[in-house]
Amino acid sequence: MEIKDLERIVDSRSRQEEEETEKSLRPRTFEDYFGQEEIKRNLSVFIKAAKMRHEPLDHILFYGPPGLGKTTLAGIIANEMGVNIRVTTGPAIERPGDMAAVLNNLAEGDILFIDEIHRLNRQVEEILYPAMEDYVIDIMIGKGAAAKSLRIDLPKFTLIGATTRVGLLSAPLRDRFGMVNHMEFYTPAELGQIVTHSAHTLDVDITKEGAEEIASRSRGTPRLANRLLKRVRDFATVVYDGKITLETAKLALDALKVDPCGLDTLDHRLMNTLIDVFNGGPVGLETLAAAIGEDSGTIEDVCEPYLMQQGFLQRTPRGRMVTRKSLDYFHKSLRPGAAAYAEEEPAPSRRHGKDPNQMGLFGKDGE
Ligand SMILES: Nc1ncnc2c1ncn2[C@@H]1O[C@H](COP(=O)(O)OP(=O)(O)OP(=O)(O)O)[C@@H](O)[C@H]1O
Ligand SMILES: [Mg+2]
Repeated sequence: MEIKDLERIVDSRSRQEEEETEKSLRPRTFEDYFGQEEIKRNLSVFIKAAKMRHEPLDHILFYGPPGLGKTTLAGIIANEMGVNIRVTTGPAIERPGDMAAVLNNLAEGDILFIDEIHRLNRQVEEILYPAMEDYVIDIMIGKGAAAKSLRIDLPKFTLIGATTRVGLLSAPLRDRFGMVNHMEFYTPAELGQIVTHSAHTLDVDITKEGAEEIASRSRGTPRLANRLLKRVRDFATVVYDGKITLETAKLALDALKVDPCGLDTLDHRLMNTLIDVFNGGPVGLETLAAAIGEDSGTIEDVCEPYLMQQGFLQRTPRGRMVTRKSLDYFHKSLRPGAAAYAEEEPAPSRRHGKDPNQMGLFGKDGE
């Protein structure tokens, strides 16, 4: 029997208990914000132009997996513009009146940061449309036949939205952002810089190789790089003299069950199930989630983006499918008639004379 992981170290979503260290490690300027070069370049031009025209920035949207630095960028923008930032989240604004109040309390040039903006409900969103376009809100006063619409002018503000699920954002809202930025996973070299910088801030002694080892297992995600750094530091303090070397980093990360590619037991379970139970797919997300006893949202938001970016998993209209790379990585092969196999090579299913649809999914389990 397998015990479900209580706490996944490579779950890139934020944790309450980490808030304080995240704050202390959060870069405040573009110089300390490593990677995302294109976004940084565009933003710098954007900010300079707005300052020269003495105008607020146009509205900005950041989207991408958790922990890649969306919130951090919003803070840096406010800092560089020299304006105040008001922070809220989609689910916190329940009624149109709440949204109107938030907007009405902004000062000229302020930044309003809405995290998880895809979770705003429709009525609340509708308040935002004229606010973003013309800096006005329309509110209804009274009820029934006596109801009147009242238009209120707002100060010129900048909305910065962040979301991990851009697909759930309504088109009219998305279209009202002047700049839409897709956050990319970081390269190991960029994460190496982040680890080294954070180690310096935390006063941790680390070798270049130690930093690179942590970086390469951090799934392209700064939040994880910082989290792994702290866990490896604990290990180094207890087992060694506190210094993080290649050897300590390797030992600690192996003990934490984070493999050299940054995959943990959940990723392994997911890929093994996809290969062994579903013969490489295609299989629907819900079915796969049920088979490994994990929440489908966690799989979609946390596991899959990295697995896909690394080329271990493919998302097709018919479902999730394994790739050649993951078969090699996990030292596996598919049984005859596998559809995933067919997609990459000229129809082996026909060669073997078997229809994959006729094969029992749970027919032959494992190796
Ligand atoms: N480019 C970067 N350079 C250095 N550190 C970074 C960078 N991006 C993020 N970080 C670090 O990673 C942590 C997480 O970043 P942040 O909170 O901005 O992610 P996010 O994209 O907003 O995540 P979520 O989707 O969960 O809200 C920050 O505390 C910061 O220390
Ligand atoms: Mg955030």
